[in-house]
Amino acid sequence: MKKDKWIMGIETSCDETAVAIVKNGTEIVANVVASQIESHKRFGGVVPEIASRHHVEQITLVLEEAMDQAGLGFEDLDAIAVTEGPGLVGALLVGVNTAKALAFAHGIPLIGVHHIAGHIYANRLVAEMKFPLVSLVVSGGHTELVYMKEHGHFEVIGETRDDAAGEAYDKVARTLKLPYPGGPHIDRLAHQGRPTINLPRAWLEEGSYDFSFSGLKSAVINAVHNAEQRGENIAPEDLAASFQESVIDVLVTKTLAAVKEFHVKQVLLAGGVAANKGLRNRLSGAFNEIPEVELVIPPLSLCTDNAAMIAAAGSILNEKGIRANLALNANPSLDLAIHNE
Ligand code: KG4
Ligand code: ZN
Repeated sequence: MKKDKWIMGIETSCDETAVAIVKNGTEIVANVVASQIESHKRFGGVVPEIASRHHVEQITLVLEEAMDQAGLGFEDLDAIAVTEGPGLVGALLVGVNTAKALAFAHGIPLIGVHHIAGHIYANRLVAEMKFPLVSLVVSGGHTELVYMKEHGHFEVIGETRDDAAGEAYDKVARTLKLPYPGGPHIDRLAHQGRPTINLPRAWLEEGSYDFSFSGLKSAVINAVHNAEQRGENIAPEDLAASFQESVIDVLVTKTLAAVKEFHVKQVLLAGGVAANKGLRNRLSGAFNEIPEVELVIPPLSLCTDNAAMIAAAGSILNEKGIRANLALNANPSLDLAIHNE
């Protein structure tokens, strides 16, 4: 009988300190996330120095809790997978150094994982991946369409040229004086309003899978300022609904175009903005019309940053025998296609 494989994941690239243990690449046996959102809220965004300090304070506690949840000892682990980039360098370093220390002390193989590969592999914790596939990755730092012909092979076919979708949500939320992170607040408001305000959609050149959200963000900010100057009131729920509709139109249309051009079997939604109810509903509706293509949407807890997704992505590298050594370093601008041969 094939022996079970236990992979630990460690994630500290932004503002969540997370450790998880995943069995055979698909089954979560421990998943602990310590969020720092409360500490960053009053600054309206993530403060890198504060993030690093919190990671240092939390990592040992989170690690112990994950080991307790799993009921395992370090000798049971087959590998330790850690986010090596992209992200905030000081934050990444805490995870990378923790992973290296554990790997060295217990003689466990070490694996470096790309944060976006992790977001995509969150889907493997809920469904079997079927290739070729395309993943729509929408987070606070990234908006990408990624084509995969097989496990561990990533081709970025489109990406944002300016703001990420989540970043646009957070900036628009700030304009509407909503708390950080603004995505969930805009999502909630959008469902109470109607898309009555005309806002732009950046389609870019014919056939391009790239995105651009800075024009839309500026249009929202201008609409608010112009109304203020005229002494008028724009209903925030209508503005949220109009903004959300513009973002979703572009994301869904470009995803459907990629599905057609690349003849994919499956579409995976990934990243924090995948928690967006409007996006989930619109995508589900669109894919009901094309039942031959499977749409996978992870539960909310696996859409935002977590370490189970890092362990899931790491387990594929482990199977392929791709390991890091103790020279592994944090790389804030790591390339997703690093292991494509
Ligand atoms: O993936 P994630 O947890 O962290 C990054 O790697 O960036 O994504 C966080 C982003 C934030 O910008 C947050 O506002 C956004 O995801 N977000 C949402 C929703 N929930 C979280 N955006 C829109 N609608 C939501 N429901
Ligand atoms: Zn993320």
